[in-house]
Amino acid sequence: MKDSTAKTAYDTKSNVKKIKNFENINESSEVTSKMNQILADEFAVFTKTLNYHWNVTGPRFMTIHQFLGKQYHELLGIMDELAERIRIVGDRPMGTLAEFSRQITVPEKPGTIPNTSQMMADLLQDHLTIREELIELITKNPESSMDPGTEDLLINVLKTHEEMAWILSSHLEH
Ligand SMILES: [Fe+2]
Repeated sequence: MKDSTAKTAYDTKSNVKKIKNFENINESSEVTSKMNQILADEFAVFTKTLNYHWNVTGPRFMTIHQFLGKQYHELLGIMDELAERIRIVGDRPMGTLAEFSRQITVPEKPGTIPNTSQMMADLLQDHLTIREELIELITKNPESSMDPGTEDLLINVLKTHEEMAWILSSHLEH
């Protein structure tokens, strides 16, 4: 009778080797560098959404508070997917506030609490900014081809931002 344990051990080694080869697709590439920059902006919009969730006031408080709660959870999910994809393709996602703050491009206004409509408009603009960054990366990335798994993930992130932007813009219509 064959020793199945030995076969399993061999397969595991073989699979690890395959993953290491796969890692070379994008390792420390311009694609993953740009993904890290987008990750920083996701973190900024996540933090801003959380801030507005905490500090919104007015007659629509509960509706907007709950809506922003849902959106920051969605943004956390996007960040997790982006970061893990960067790892899967062999680079390192940033994960410290110092690194994020150096890379963030979406604007913040510390010390001010906008009214509800200004919050919605501010977040809408940020989602549109990230949308542009994603389109730039997907359609004009400097490498001849992006691996399909990364492209699929980025397109899904793009669609999520478009949906979030649509909902925010609907809040602003009278
Ligand atoms: Fe909450």
